[in-house]
This record gives sequence, structure tokens and C-alpha cells, in this order.
Amino acid sequence: MDVVKRIREVRKLAGQARGTGGKIALVPTMGALHAGHFSLIDAARSECDFLVVSIFVNPTQFAPHEDLSSYPRTEGDDLAACRARGADVVFIPPCEEMYPFGKPKTEITVPQLAGTLCGASRPGHFAGVCIVVAKLLNIVAPDRAYFGEKDYQQAAIIRRMVKDMNLPVEIVTCPIVREPDGLAMSSRNGYLSDEQRREAPALYGSLQLAAEMIRSAHPPVEDVIGAVRRYLSENAPLGEIDYVQVVDPDTLSDVRAIDGKVLVAVAVKFERARLIDNMLVDAGCDDA
Ligand code: PAF
Repeated sequence: MDVVKRIREVRKLAGQARGTGGKIALVPTMGALHAGHFSLIDAARSECDFLVVSIFVNPTQFAPHEDLSSYPRTEGDDLAACRARGADVVFIPPCEEMYPFGKPKTEITVPQLAGTLCGASRPGHFAGVCIVVAKLLNIVAPDRAYFGEKDYQQAAIIRRMVKDMNLPVEIVTCPIVREPDGLAMSSRNGYLSDEQRREAPALYGSLQLAAEMIRSAHPPVEDVIGAVRRYLSENAPLGEIDYVQVVDPDTLSDVRAIDGKVLVAVAVKFERARLIDNMLVDAGCDDA
């Protein structure tokens, strides 16, 4: 496995693989790799010939008050995991390599998808994600790029950016990976105190409750949101609810009435740890 810091090096290695007719995969990450990332790496490894994992804690997607400086950095373990899972290259650029001219003057936004859910509480976040993902796609030129469904809104925005800009890459998403108690895997779970960690599976519990309500009774949206909020307040009193929304899975707009597939999404802040989770629910069927 090659570990490279420079754009020209990863371009060269990916270019050589492309020259031999290989299908190239990119798994973009910010490191602190966990089982959620491993599922992306394993899928990419099994579906493509040449696997690039990028590790870059991207400053442009953090607001000034957010956790850029304390974001977990576990480079040694990450490299070992990438090697064990058969990555061909890990691209781990320093900040000056990705942003040699400082904050980019170009902005890529998908406002129709970014103004809601996490985008409403983290203004500018998805513009930061778009610029770094566009740069990584440009640098590696993969056939496929892999993202997790926990960040459903991120994946939807990237898919749309790729479509709107005719980028020649297939965006692949992989299911949320959960701890045995239901908590979605996240690099930020490590911020939780023991007490907060005990409450954190309530996010998943609240989504299961919503799914049950939707499938069995087709309730008004407000009833579902109310029930999820009550469940979270009772089962995760240390958390502060950021949002509970029921949205159209394609447009991410709030739905007025539940009919067909909907996305139920929640975000809860436990001090430093802002946790998100979501579930696709089909009102007309037992599992979406
Ligand atoms: O999902 C993440 O870890 C990041 O947002 C990504 C896609 C690697 C861009 O920095």
C-alpha cells in the first residue's frame, strides 16, 4: 500500500491503474476510521480494481466554533486498517496541499438540498463538503466514490453536484453501520461521556418508533414528529434536540402528508457530540 501526501503522487498512481484498464474506487474520509468506514472500504475493494482511501480533516466544512482542532486524529490505526483491508493507496494530504491558496474563492452549493436538516444548523458546511469532494474527485478521477447513508443529506448533495456538473463518477452509498445497541457509528461518538453514551441509542429508538407509527397507522406528520420528540426527551434527557424532520427522500423538503417513502431524520446534541441518524420508511410496506 502506498501512503502519499501529494496530489501529483496520487494522480500518478491512479493514472497508472487506469492505464491498465482498472476500475478505480475512492473512499473519501476524515480519518478516525470505524466500522462504518470499513463497510465503504470493503464494498469499494470488492467492486473495483484499485482502491484509494483519502484521509483529510477538511477545514472548510467546519464552522469557526466547531470541533476542527479536536476532531479525532488516529493516523497510525487508520493506515493499519486501510492496509489490512487491501487499500492500494492512502492519500493523506496536508492542508497546504489541498488549499495552497488558502480559503478557496470558488463556491459549490446545492441550495435546494442544503438549506434544510443539517444544512440549516450548520450553514456553509455543505459548501465545504462540496468543494473538497469535487477536488478529490478531480484529483483521483475514480469510477466510483463511496459514501455512508448516515450522512444521507451529504450523499444526496454530492449525487446532485456530480449530476449537475457531469462529473464522470458513480456515487455509491452504503447502509448505516450500528453498534449492537443501535447507535450509528460515528467518529464523534468518542466525545460522549458514559452517561451520554447510554442515552445515545435513543436516536435509533426514536426512528424505530416513527417507522412503526408510519407503517401501522399513516399518522399526520405532526404526530410522528411529536412522538419522536417526546421519545428523545424521555430517553435522552442529556441531549438537546437539534431537529426532527420527516422529508421527501429525493427533494429533502418537509412532507405535509405521509404517503409512500419518507426519510425520518434526527439530530441531537450531547455537548460536543452532535449526533445524527435517519431512516427511510415506506408507509405502504413493512421495510423500506
Ligand atoms: O463524510 C465525511 O467524512 C466528509 O464529509 C467527507 C465526505 C470525507 C468530506 O470531507
